[in-house]
Amino acid sequence: MTRRPFLAGNWKMYKTGTEAKKYLGEFKALVGTLSDRDVALGVPAAAIREAADAAGGSGILIGAQNIHFEKEGAFTGEISADMVKDAGASFVILGHSERRQFFGDTDSWVSKKLRAALGASLIPVVCVGESLAQREAGKTNELVESQLKGSLEGLAPDEAGTLVIAYEPVWAIGTGKTATTDQAQEVHLFIRKKLLELLGEKAAAETRILYGGSVKPDNAKALLAQPDIDGALVGGAALKPDSFAAIVKYDG
Ligand code: PGA
Repeated sequence: MTRRPFLAGNWKMYKTGTEAKKYLGEFKALVGTLSDRDVALGVPAAAIREAADAAGGSGILIGAQNIHFEKEGAFTGEISADMVKDAGASFVILGHSERRQFFGDTDSWVSKKLRAALGASLIPVVCVGESLAQREAGKTNELVESQLKGSLEGLAPDEAGTLVIAYEPVWAIGTGKTATTDQAQEVHLFIRKKLLELLGEKAAAETRILYGGSVKPDNAKALLAQPDIDGALVGGAALKPDSFAAIVKYDG
């Protein structure tokens, strides 16, 4: 089974709409048209519309980094799935470790946000990953399994069509420490086995599992060559058009 690679940048809280427009102008010229992979950028909510306009016609997907799970309501400061969709988003990153660590996102919230994302036809990119202490305590699989189960709670196999999972070991995010290709592949395979248990054969075979955590132009190729690594979620190295373009074009 060949899964279409999904290369996503996560800008975090960097870049205004004006900066997004400038970036996309340069980035589009560097990557050209790549019809055999999905290229995506998760941008700050305030930059979605400008980024989506600037990406227009290139096939580059623009996404949000979070949503609230309610459709609308008295939730000051929050933004709904329909709102980011209307602004031009086609995917959303859910349960990123920074959301879990600093903003209280729980598995149960992630599962509700997943439902909201699907309701608005947004591709959900659900993040899981262990901390250094959990890895050192030999609890990586246990933790990843419980995050997966909790975050995908209530999802039916026939709803998993667009689901993307991102495995991001917290100790590798923004630290320059990458999981070795073997370490990453081992967890990706474990995630695929759990998807089989949770959602069945089709979802296990088709769901793209991205690796995230200090992905750079010089390690992308080796990571993406692993059989169960179907893409990357890239933070720091996606902030510059040339380094993200080099990752996106990892094989050529
Ligand atoms: P990084 O971030 O590439 O800077 O490690 C990845 C992420 O947080 O998604």
